[in-house]
Order: sequence, then C-alpha cells, then structure tokens
Amino acid sequence: MKIAILSRSKRGYSVRRLKEAAAARGHEIKRLDTLRFSMTLERDTPELYFRGRRLSHYDAVIPRIGQSITHYGLAVLRQFEQVGIYAANDSVAIATSRDKLRAMQILSRHDIGMPPTAFVRSENDVLPAIERVGGVPVIIKLLEGTQGVGVILAESTKVAEAIIQTLHSAQQNVLIQKFVKESKGSDVRAVVVGDKVVAAMRRQAQPGEYRSNVHRGGTTQSVILDPAYEETAIRAAQILGLRMAGVDMLESSEGPQVMEVNSSPGLEGIETATGVDIAGAIIADLENHVLFPQVDLKQRIRLAAGYGVVEFPLHDMPALEGKALSNTPLSEKNIRVISIRRHKKIIPNPGGAEVVETGDTLLCFGELRELRAIVPEHVAKRQKLRKPKIKPVPQDAQPFEESTDGKEKT
Ligand SMILES: Nc1ncnc2c1ncn2[C@@H]1O[C@H](COP(=O)(O)OP(=O)(O)OP(=O)(O)O)[C@@H](O)[C@H]1O
Ligand SMILES: [Mg+2]
Repeated sequence: MKIAILSRSKRGYSVRRLKEAAAARGHEIKRLDTLRFSMTLERDTPELYFRGRRLSHYDAVIPRIGQSITHYGLAVLRQFEQVGIYAANDSVAIATSRDKLRAMQILSRHDIGMPPTAFVRSENDVLPAIERVGGVPVIIKLLEGTQGVGVILAESTKVAEAIIQTLHSAQQNVLIQKFVKESKGSDVRAVVVGDKVVAAMRRQAQPGEYRSNVHRGGTTQSVILDPAYEETAIRAAQILGLRMAGVDMLESSEGPQVMEVNSSPGLEGIETATGVDIAGAIIADLENHVLFPQVDLKQRIRLAAGYGVVEFPLHDMPALEGKALSNTPLSEKNIRVISIRRHKKIIPNPGGAEVVETGDTLLCFGELRELRAIVPEHVAKRQKLRKPKIKPVPQDAQPFEESTDGKEKT
C-alpha cells in the first residue's frame, strides 16, 4: 500500500513510529504536512493538491491532526475521503470526538459509564445542576481545555458558582462534572485499534494533585485491564465511529467512567509504558480495511428517496417475539434487518432463521412507507401519527393513479 500520514510534525515520535511500522510491513509511507494541501471543489470532480500539484495515488491516510488546525485539517481529510482514499479515522468521527460535549451527549444514549455531567448557561441553573451531578465537590471543565489546563476542582458550592460565573463572563463554556474521589488522581488510558484494546496504562497524579496528565507531572504504568474496562473502551470508540482511539476512563466505585475519547492518541507515552507495538497494530488494521473506503451512509440513503434506516425496540411489537426473521412481516415487506441488538451484544447481518427474542432491538432498512406500516397502532397514536394504509397493488394498475375528481386528497 501507499500510505499518507497527515501531520504537521516532521520528527515527532508518533510519526516516526508509524513510518517504521509501515516500512517493516513492506508499505510505502510518507508524512505530508496538513497545511500544504489545497483543494478544488467542482462538479463531479473533487481534487486534492499537495504543494501545488495534484496528489499522486494513495491507498490510505492516517490523520494526526493537531488541535490548533482542526478546522483546516478536517477539511483536508474530508477531501481525501471524497476522492476515495481510506482514512484510518474518518472526519466525522474525529470532529465528533474533539467536541467533548457532543461526544458525551452521544455516549450518554448508550450503556457506557461516565461521570454525571451537566451543561448550563443561565446562572439560575448552576445550583440545580451541581445538585443533579451529586453535589460538591465538583469538577468544572472548560470545553476547550487540554493537558489538564481548565480542569478545576471546586470544594464548595460558593466557589463553584463563582468560578462558573467568572468563566461565563469570559465567554467560556464549561461542563460541571461529578468529582470521582475514589479514582484518587489516577485514570486509565486504553488504546483501541480496530475492535481490540491493544495497550493500556494507568496514569497517577503527583501527590496532592487530582489531575493525572503527564504534563502535570503524572506518572505512567502498564496495566492489564479488567474486562469491564476493555469492553467500555471498545464500545465508546465504536459508538463514536473511531477505529483508533485513546479512551480515558476513571476507576470509580461503579466501574469504568469514560472521561474522554481521543482520536489521535500520542504513541510515545503508551508505547514506552507498555512496550506494545501500537504503530504496527495501526498499520495491520489499515491492511484489513483499505479495500473499503469510508462511505457516508446517511448521504447514500438520502439519495434513495423514500427509504430509511429505522430502529425498532421489540417491546413495541411483541407480536414478533419468538419468530424467525423469515416468518415476520418484515421479510414479507422486503425490510432487511441489518443487525439485532441483544443485551450488550450485536448480531450483525442476521439470517432468516434468526429467532427474535424479548428485549431485542432491530435495526432495519427499507421503504419508509412499509416501515411506518409496521409500527404498532399504540406507538403511532402516542406520536399522533396516522399510519399509511398500504393496499396490495393490483397487477394491471397504472403506475400513478390520479384521483378522478381532480382534487388532491389531503
Ligand atoms: N470527574 C473527574 N473526577 C476525578 N478526576 C477527574 C475528573 N475529570 C478529570 N479528572 C482528572 O483530571 C485530568 C484531566 O481531565 P481531562 O482529561 O478531562 O482534561 P484534559 O486532560 O485537560 O483534556 P484533554 O484530555 O482533552 O487534553 C484527568 O486525567 C483526571 O486525572
Ligand atoms: Mg485528558
């Protein structure tokens, strides 16, 4: 393969290791400075230029986009995707994970441990929010903070309110988060590549410090993760759509609590602490996926007007329980079940013999009219929807029947 690393850094550890790992596996690899790319957007021909010349052929790109050039870097990466080059992490997933609030909002829909977190703007909402996350002490976090700067521990409500007021007056948005005391200044970073945790380390803060960032003097140590931590890390990365991620978790008395999911984790700290060849794992994962460039599913489905992907929790349609998929109305109506969620497991691409169980959630693709027809009456009523009446089309029917009185039915 020919691989591009999208990075500004010439001699950084991560870039050097990725180059070594790719070369060792027989690939050609080049680092290309993100800011030396330009692009043109024209009808039917997205083009990408590097140093003023059309970019030569590449099979894959590994984005390592610095925080300070996120906007331009993501535009460049999107252009790689538009010209059909496989990205180790795609632009949408990177953008989502860079926005701490957005990432937490998405994760919170799933059964993933996280410190209770509040986001407020009005002064009147601060006190109730502190109460809702469990009362003081609380952690106050700048949305755009990094390396531990902008993470403040507030011991009392008065102090918390004053800090939040000050930050708001400086036009800064903040998160209010439950302080996980029992983590005692340590956290765990798991590096996920593909569908596996390839390495993990614990970071421990200096005595008297609650932030474990290495930039704040935190020390690192290799750890073997408990399965609950592994599973949480993998699922958090999957939910955000990242194939490669550094997942930071606090060790709370209730188990793993995800603080952050990083789309381009630095390799130096964790490779040094664990001795694992993470760069090699990243290249190996690329080899498995490079034949299939990213597809923007939403965009593609929109092009098939009238079709959609819908999730059906089975408790809304008990009539399906205990039946094989091929014996349900889904198959009659040409609705394809893409996957079944059962407890925490996903059954991808289930066959017709798969029996649907209580508690399952079905992810389906099909014609929206047909999908709506399957929604049971009581759910449609709750949403004040009128269900379409789908009559079988007679064999000799004209494609479009006008109503005879010339008036449109409403
Ligand atoms: N809710 C919390 N309870 C206990 N400790 C926390 C909590 N949130 C953060 N910490 C500690 O503070 C450190 C820094 O927090 P966080 O990772 O959220 O911010 P950051 O490191 O500044 O941001 P980034 O990881 O984006 O660079 C964590 O590594 C952890 O040790
Ligand atoms: Mg951090």
